Amino acid sequence: MSDVYILGIESSCDETAAAVVRSGEEVISSVVYSQIATHQPFGGVVPELASREHLRAIVPVVRQALEDAGRTYETIDAFAVTKGPGLAGALLVGLSYAKALAYAIEKPLIGVNHLEGHIHAALLEERQNGNRELQFPVLALVVSGGHTHLYLAEHKDAGWVYHNVGHTRDDAAGEAFDKVAKLLELGYPGGPMIDFLAKHGDPSALKFPFAQIKHRDRNPQNRHPEEDRRIDFSYSGIKTAVLRYVEKHGMRPAIEKRRNALSPLTAPTGKDVLAVCDRQTLDLVASFQHAVVNDLISKTLQAAREYEAATLLVTGGVAANSELRSSFERKAAKQGLPVYFPSRKLSTDNAAMIAAAAYPRFLASEFAELELSVDATLKLR
Ligand code: KG4
Ligand code: ZN
Repeated sequence: MSDVYILGIESSCDETAAAVVRSGEEVISSVVYSQIATHQPFGGVVPELASREHLRAIVPVVRQALEDAGRTYETIDAFAVTKGPGLAGALLVGLSYAKALAYAIEKPLIGVNHLEGHIHAALLEERQNGNRELQFPVLALVVSGGHTHLYLAEHKDAGWVYHNVGHTRDDAAGEAFDKVAKLLELGYPGGPMIDFLAKHGDPSALKFPFAQIKHRDRNPQNRHPEEDRRIDFSYSGIKTAVLRYVEKHGMRPAIEKRRNALSPLTAPTGKDVLAVCDRQTLDLVASFQHAVVNDLISKTLQAAREYEAATLLVTGGVAANSELRSSFERKAAKQGLPVYFPSRKLSTDNAAMIAAAAYPRFLASEFAELELSVDATLKLR
């Protein structure tokens, strides 16, 4: 089979991205335009602003990805695009543009689930590094601002099938990082900032216990025939626990002081924020991160034992976290399990992962009709 060049487009949240990937195994170009500066003043993603920014960025970002790859539209074999889950208005921008390109250039269009994309970010880089011999079953933890999901992934025929074996019952892990950072006035997005600050605090200063979740999911749609074997997460409780700690220990004036000190800066760096954090805040942040990381790891390893996984993949924005990476590697090695992460660049949202996930679908001629529409709550099953 000759080389296949797929141009991927991603616009599900606050990153406008385009990439060219060769045969699902080599990133030829990858351009990510981040909207962080737009959403920073609001401490979270504002959907209307996200759509507007995507509209502004989509054409130059796609052009840049083609130019960086040294290709023309005519030498692209297919266009792949995120069809969900995500913000409907944001998804629509990428999808409309991909459809227009596929129609104009007369090349196939492939719709990709964003979560499948995250899984393929890890697979793509393993292939790129020459590791083609994955042991099955593969257990993938997709952990980002919108998701904390566990999937068993299998190769079937030419493609992949996924079986969801756990998810968060409330907040995603990345959402907890972002909300705690917002509460403490550490800036947006919270994950990378907490990652940086936690290195300066004591992770064992405070204990945040996590319970095993055994009650049935209240949402009947999420119930599963294998309910007893499911391993679920919950991260809204720890956010409330941090809030209670803040109130109980009179931390409000320090938080207000930090807000005033940082508000004149357009993009505060880790060093800027560190300079206005006291020991109590640093210990709180380090203990919060330690608790979330340990919970993610212990539940994933428990699922790995339950489902006799032979390989672990950890992917999504939170997979960029330094403590998660080092601690996961250490603990998985003790259980004799190889664990793969995408590079930090491909952990957070990007379009290379979308183009890579589309490759098996290209081989199977699973092309979308031009009527393809977005699905904000699309599930991966
Ligand atoms: O995958 P992603 O870019 O977008 C979603 O699909 O949600 O993930 C973004 C999330 C945000 O919540 C962000 O705070 C978190 O990933 N994140 C991190 C780190 N880098 C990004 N969380 C912890 N540590 C990091 N280094
Ligand atoms: Zn994502």
